Amino acid sequence: MPVIRVSNLCFSRQDGDQIQSVFKNVNFKISAHEQVALLGDSGSGKTTLLHLLAGVLSPDSGEIEINGELISSYRAQQLAHYRRKIGLIFQHYQLLDCLNVEQNILFQHNLNYPDQTPHQFHELIEKLGLSDKLMKLPNQLSGGEQQRVGIARAILNQPKLILADEPTGNLDQTRAHQIVEILTTLCKERKINLVMVTHSQHLSRYFNRVYMLSNGQLNERN
Ligand SMILES: Nc1ncnc2c1ncn2[C@@H]1O[C@H](COP(=O)(O)OP(=O)(O)OP(=O)(O)O)[C@@H](O)[C@H]1O
Ligand SMILES: [Mg+2]
Repeated sequence: MPVIRVSNLCFSRQDGDQIQSVFKNVNFKISAHEQVALLGDSGSGKTTLLHLLAGVLSPDSGEIEINGELISSYRAQQLAHYRRKIGLIFQHYQLLDCLNVEQNILFQHNLNYPDQTPHQFHELIEKLGLSDKLMKLPNQLSGGEQQRVGIARAILNQPKLILADEPTGNLDQTRAHQIVEILTTLCKERKINLVMVTHSQHLSRYFNRVYMLSNGQLNERN
């Protein structure tokens, strides 16, 4: 049974007094534990698609079902609850400047699971090479280190789905490969679905499936 099912998705944006169609009847399915790369030209709609899957935007028509939840029919409060359970990773790391690395990583976990000790915290931190950085502030870290903090924060939230929008966009090629390898490996180990937007064809080899977005359509690349 697919974990993500998108049927006949249509979405338009208002562009001045014009309506611009971003998606026209898009259909796709992603099965349990699959890792998906999403490629496409700038402006093709990759971020918009992630925002629809994250419940930040709502489709004009069509259905989006994620882990049995028909989020396209959800109202604001249900969407807010749904959003707290997924992992989001961005190109700009969106860490809180005044909190140290450990506090940044635990922030969302502690909001969602106030009575729970984080599962395998030190094992995760070690895998991400952050053990000796826990007391540092974000501005004392390199770009790659900040991105690893973002990954730790997303994973620790125990999501079934992680949506990542060009998480390697600010990194050099070697670092980009390292980050994607760590992220895909952690998601496999923890049975987390991953949908990652990237501009890089080279990074697509780490994924089970690769989709290309163009002209409002999503096609699987073999
Ligand atoms: N807030 C917005 N209001 C109006 N139009 C928008 C808005 N955000 C994006 N768009 C338009 O929607 C289309 C898809 O944008 P989107 O950001 O999803 O592209 P993308 O594939 O993520 O591009 P990039 O690779 O540059 O990040 C573009 O034509 C863009 O101009
Ligand atoms: Mg984008």
